[in-house]
Amino acid sequence: MRTHYCGELTSALIGKTVQLAGWVHRRRDHGGVIFIDLRDREGLAQVVFDPDRVEAFERADRVRSEYVLRITGMVRARPAGTVNPNLRSGEVEVLAHEVEILNPSAPPPFQLDDDNLSETTRLTYRVLDLRREPMQRNMRLRYRVAMAVRRQLDAQGFIDIETPMLTRSTPEGARDYLVPSRVHPGEFFALPQSPQLFKQLLMVAGFDRYYQIVKCFRDEDLRADRQPEFTQIDIETSFLEESEIQAIMEGLIRSVFHEVQGVELPAPFPRLTYAEAMARFGSDKPDLRVPLELTELTDLMKTVEFKVFRGAADAPGGRVAALRVPAAELSRKEIDDYTQFVSIYGAKGLAWIRVNDPGKGAEGLQSPIVKFFAAPVLNEILSRTQAQAGDLIFFGADQAKVVNDALGALRVKIGHDKGYAERGWRPLWVVDFPMFEWDAEGKRWAAMHHPFTSPKDGHEDRLQNDPGKALSKGYDMVLNGSEIGGGSVRIHRADVQGKVFAALGISEQEARAKFGFLLDNLQYGAPPHGGIAFGLDRIVAMMAGTDSIRDVIAFPKTQRAQCLLTHAPSPVDEKQLRELGLRLRDAPKA
Ligand code: AMO
Ligand code: AMP
Repeated sequence: MRTHYCGELTSALIGKTVQLAGWVHRRRDHGGVIFIDLRDREGLAQVVFDPDRVEAFERADRVRSEYVLRITGMVRARPAGTVNPNLRSGEVEVLAHEVEILNPSAPPPFQLDDDNLSETTRLTYRVLDLRREPMQRNMRLRYRVAMAVRRQLDAQGFIDIETPMLTRSTPEGARDYLVPSRVHPGEFFALPQSPQLFKQLLMVAGFDRYYQIVKCFRDEDLRADRQPEFTQIDIETSFLEESEIQAIMEGLIRSVFHEVQGVELPAPFPRLTYAEAMARFGSDKPDLRVPLELTELTDLMKTVEFKVFRGAADAPGGRVAALRVPAAELSRKEIDDYTQFVSIYGAKGLAWIRVNDPGKGAEGLQSPIVKFFAAPVLNEILSRTQAQAGDLIFFGADQAKVVNDALGALRVKIGHDKGYAERGWRPLWVVDFPMFEWDAEGKRWAAMHHPFTSPKDGHEDRLQNDPGKALSKGYDMVLNGSEIGGGSVRIHRADVQGKVFAALGISEQEARAKFGFLLDNLQYGAPPHGGIAFGLDRIVAMMAGTDSIRDVIAFPKTQRAQCLLTHAPSPVDEKQLRELGLRLRDAPKA
């Protein structure tokens, strides 16, 4: 139906007759001449209808936005002064000879070039939303990333093996999406939270290098960077050490950024231990573009009278830390706003000291809390934070988790609000994660990564004796404050796996019932193995420069885990429920 894409027309085609097919982006009536911007996947072309060509002109007069047209016409240079440098085809236009209306369109619910559409509108009319140029660009970017990943992994001997979607639960820490079995009434499949156990079994099966670009399903609280179904670049290897696996994985990400973005990421990526990341940045996914760091004050605050700080410093698991903001010209209102901001993370306050003249002791400081500190303590605070005149020092005192979350987030927020952040890409590895974290709600140890992560060499005994001190061979890849991938060296011996289950309070029976297939197969000569999974949606969103992964997923769910396009989830027929042997506890809402 066509000879060229609209966006491909250039001055090289001047004088040629072309056929175009696409959608009416805009139609303008300029005193007797009609202009139509015709749009296809490659961009726009300006088509001119002259009243001399009566039939074409009258048809053009009838068309409206989003009508589908086929146009035959001659390419000509745009008159001087009307060249559009923002358009690929901006030097030329097409003088229409014929136009065929392939399909009219109902009036679209919004103008496609409206930049202020609500997300609800966009997701309800996702098909029209996807016609918009930014979304076309995002989908192609996503495809280019996926292709670059495949090319790179293929070149390194990885093979793509599919794993089941109807399977058993994998413990990645979220709730499962369940699928009832008709054949086995009362029994359920779980959609995979990841292919974790299957990829380990593929290593036991001798495939050595596996990858898959695969959907994962997690019923968890959603945020801008989380979807209930999302896509992993899932990878597993055998017979490689932690550092070798990391070298291959960062090589992959480097080559993808090189190929797709033309960006050279540093080699090798810097490494931070989990402990150092928490101490310096209050986060296990530090945004290294922000040069601000936390200062430890817990030990010092064990010596002061000020109850808020002393109490936190003395409490088990407490922390007092400072965040120095250099040359911070923050108003009282801004300080109040930041105090409000940290309260989201549970902080009960945000003490601060404004440093006017660090040489003058208390005299040179302005603050609601200076009166609580003796001169040597003040001097120590100034010296540890390396405070200069004009700085503002914020303080957090609470359980370490609250202080880290609050000051960690404040650091990033102030860094970006106030222009301290660098531009560009700052990747790193975070390594030496603890095996377990204390789940205060469940009053038990929970796996920090997942229960198949190997303890660090020499830490096996701690699994039983001192689980809080056991470190793992887990690692995360972090980019600009976002966790883009996580993985580990796995446990390849059934006895070690048993010890980890024990530390997690999973009984032998329960372990057998849930993971018997893994434990059995670990006994048949499982090789040492390990891998990683990257969040494809997150990587593409960052490259696209958007905060929401929904912008790089063709048909995403809302924050409330619904699809506004198809209206899924939806009630089902009584008949279907009966076939599945199910009855609803509560009558569905009308
Ligand atoms: P993990 O749970 O860390 O590891 O997931 C790997 C990466 O997937 C991305 N991700 C998500 N992206 C969007 N929406 C979500 N709900 C979501 N959850 C996770 C993140 C994350 O870094 N089986 C292990 C991997 C392994 O050990 O090899 C796993 O799934 O970018
Ligand atoms: P108060 O004695 O409650 O008036 O608090 C004095 C200062 O300490 C105020 O600036 C509070 O914002 C701050 N503050 C109170 N609790 C904390 C806390 N847990 N961490 C950091 N600062 C706090």
